Parts: sequence; structure tokens; C-alpha cells
Amino acid sequence: MQIIKVKNYQEMSDKAAKLLIEQVSLKPTSTVCFATGSTPIGMYKNLILASNNNQVDFSKMLTFNLDEYIGLAPEHSQSYQNFMHKQLFDQINVNSQNIHFPSGVGDITQNIENYNQVLENYSPLDFTILGIGTNGHIAFNEPGCDFESQTQLIDLTNETIQSNARFFDDINDVPKQAISMGIKSILNAKQIILLASGKAKAQAIYDAIKGPYTTKCPASALQVHGNVTFIIDEEAASLL
Ligand code: GLP
Repeated sequence: MQIIKVKNYQEMSDKAAKLLIEQVSLKPTSTVCFATGSTPIGMYKNLILASNNNQVDFSKMLTFNLDEYIGLAPEHSQSYQNFMHKQLFDQINVNSQNIHFPSGVGDITQNIENYNQVLENYSPLDFTILGIGTNGHIAFNEPGCDFESQTQLIDLTNETIQSNARFFDDINDVPKQAISMGIKSILNAKQIILLASGKAKAQAIYDAIKGPYTTKCPASALQVHGNVTFIIDEEAASLL
């Protein structure tokens, strides 16, 4: 496990974007798994800038995403698919046919099977970007999750519903379930970076890095991965 401590959100975003640009420059057909949430938005802005300046070519990159809310169609303003299009995909030269997403509408059992099949077809992914929840969740794998899991249906905890309510008009609009890559599918990637910024993430970062390997902190599963880099700012690192 490598830990890169940076000063602030901007430096975290710069470092993370640089690593992905290096990856895609070395291997244009890289398979990359993206995360949602506010944390990677700065990184995505840097990727857009680099793409606009022709510093990197994303046209052959294959994209995947960690998770999606149940019941939100891709067009819904708060669906993760919509988020990715707005924050990144629509502003870089990624080929729309190379974008893969778990679907949160329709037959969920079938969707889970389909996404596991997609991931298996491209296994192992080259590069995965993660954020972390204040309760230590990665993707939507909540405390108590199974470390052997693949893509699955998840009941969101109240803590997650409350912290994600800021994106919705009303807390009652936040979906109670999600489809999410499981811990086993996430750890299958060759390289993983986890980004964290701000005091609210300090305890989760401490538990993930210094705490025991336990399902109580899903991010502690990363301790056994051979190529994971935590890029964390001073506040997120403040308890280490
Ligand atoms: C959601 C996503 C996670 C993300 C987390 C943290 O729950 N499913 O993938 O890491 O939020 O979000 P933020 O970066 O906004 O703190």
C-alpha cells in the first residue's frame, strides 16, 4: 500500500489525474473504472483540461463504473450515469460504445448477471478510482459487507442516505438501494487509487489504513491488494 499525502483537494486532484493520464498514455486501450461522488470531480476537471489540450487521447479507453442507484434511469439528474456524462464523459473524446455501466432499472437480477459478465470479459481491469464514504464504504459496499462479493444489490445504510441527501431536493428522494460492484470485483483491478479529502474522511481513512482488516470498514479490504495508492490531503490524513 502506498500513501501519498498532499496539501489539499487541488493537489489530490492533480496527482490523481496525472496517474491516470500516465496509464492511458502508456496503454491507450486501458480499462478504467470510475467513481462518482464529489471527491473525484477535481480530478475529472483536470482530465478534461488535458484532453482539450491534446495531452491525452481517451478515444480507445474502455470505461466502467462502480455503482448505480436502484430506480434511477440514466436520464435522471441524480443517476450516476448522468453524473459521469456531465462531469467527464461528455467533455472528453471517450467513445460512447466503450462506456459500461451497471443498470439500476428493470430486472435487477439480470442486470447484476450482465455486469458481472462484462467485468469478467475485461478482467482484470487496469485502473480503478475509488472514493470513500464517511463510514468506510467503497462503491456502495457498506460496513458488514462480504469481502468475497461480486456485483450485487445493496441496502444503503442511513448514514449513506443522509450523506448523499445533499444531492437531492428531499431526503425521501434518495434511493434506498443500489447496484454495486462487490469488494472482490473491485480488488480484481491491477491498480487502484483511493482519493480522500477533508476532515469528515479522517476516521474512515485511519480505519482503512491503520485499523484491522475487517468488514466493519469495507475500505480495509484494500490492505491485501498489491497495488493500491491512497492519495489523501492533510485533513483526511489528520488521524494517521
Ligand atoms: C457514494 C459513492 C462512493 C463514493 C462516496 C463518497 O456513496 N457510491 O463511490 O466514494 O459516495 O462520496 P463523496 O466523494 O461525495 O464524499
